[in-house]
Amino acid sequence: MNKKFIPVSEPFLRATEREFLMDAFDSGWISASGPYNKKLEDEFSKFCGVNYGSTVSNGTVAIHLAVRALELQKGDEVIVPNFNGIYGAYALMYEGVIPIPVDAEFDTWNINPELIEEKITNKTKAIMVVHLYGHPCDMDRIQEIADKYNLPIIEDAAEAHGAEYKSRKAGSLGDISTFSMYANKIMTSGEGGLVLTNNKKYYEKIEYLKNQCFSLNGPRNFIHEDLGYNYRYTNLQAAIAYAQFLQLDDLNKKRIEVNKKYRKALNGIKGLTFQVNKDYAKNVFWMSSILINKEITGFSRDQLEEHLLKNNIQTRRLFVGMHRQPVLKKYGIVINEKFPISDMLSDDGLYLPTSPQLNNSDIERIVEEIKVLYDTKN
Ligand SMILES: Cc1ncc(COP(=O)(O)O)c(C=O)c1O
Repeated sequence: MNKKFIPVSEPFLRATEREFLMDAFDSGWISASGPYNKKLEDEFSKFCGVNYGSTVSNGTVAIHLAVRALELQKGDEVIVPNFNGIYGAYALMYEGVIPIPVDAEFDTWNINPELIEEKITNKTKAIMVVHLYGHPCDMDRIQEIADKYNLPIIEDAAEAHGAEYKSRKAGSLGDISTFSMYANKIMTSGEGGLVLTNNKKYYEKIEYLKNQCFSLNGPRNFIHEDLGYNYRYTNLQAAIAYAQFLQLDDLNKKRIEVNKKYRKALNGIKGLTFQVNKDYAKNVFWMSSILINKEITGFSRDQLEEHLLKNNIQTRRLFVGMHRQPVLKKYGIVINEKFPISDMLSDDGLYLPTSPQLNNSDIERIVEEIKVLYDTKN
């Protein structure tokens, strides 16, 4: 008999999401002007301790708007984590801004602050940080460098809703921060994004740009002074995300619990390690990610991936470093360096199924299959 398929991630939607969605539907407010957008913007930014919030279509355009708000120009350079998804690099490249990659820390997998300064030139105009898999970056150290060179920080918190750095919420740690509400994210509406900032000028620019550069306070006379976008977020989506936001603490608790169970159950597998959890961090474990040292485990990451999939358990490989992305090369961004930590993470890492609703028997089955593979090789 085929065992039940366990997806790597599933949205956890309950009665409140349906209720708010139907409320938005019944109200007729199905585009961006609607009460759920405003509620989400006001309450999520307050939760993060930030003055302004703006909902947008997704996490990638959220970063693009941050780039535009900071008025980054073609040929400018921005420090980025080399080990990351492509999203931040795309957002920069839309404007001809050059991502300058910095390798990851060995333990947290986030951008290594100690390697940032050597990459700063007179073209550097900002630092982008990403709290990978829910673990906040070492922000004090990064802020120190940003202050020294007078650089703004773009904080990509797409994977870290509710995470904390020294008791400060992710989303409050940069000059402009961004979130994603894609289906696999901690808080979701299928697609969606948020931009937060304490800077009124940035906020107004983001509101202006995301809505076709219609004048913010003037008449809707269809006269446009600047190049804008439709990066709006619908009230229908906001209704779902707002319901998720009200349950964020619970959603995070469940993810943290899933991670705890994995760690405990996989403790005896030598050569299988987890992302380190630093004292300064409240990691919300967006995903339970592991590394496989094949010299010790006797099996590679690829073999584990294949074995689990054969047993109807889906996993996902970790990100691929910017230096290995063909699109950067295609756009003339030449990176002639080595990124040993990124390579190790890309080659040996994967994340296990991580959803709030993953139950004990699912986790036991996943762990059991990892042990079966381990036992056949040891
Ligand atoms: C770190 C990071 N930044 C940005 C994004 C982009 O978000 P979206 O898929 O909503 O465009 C994602 C996820 O997809 C992400 O993981």
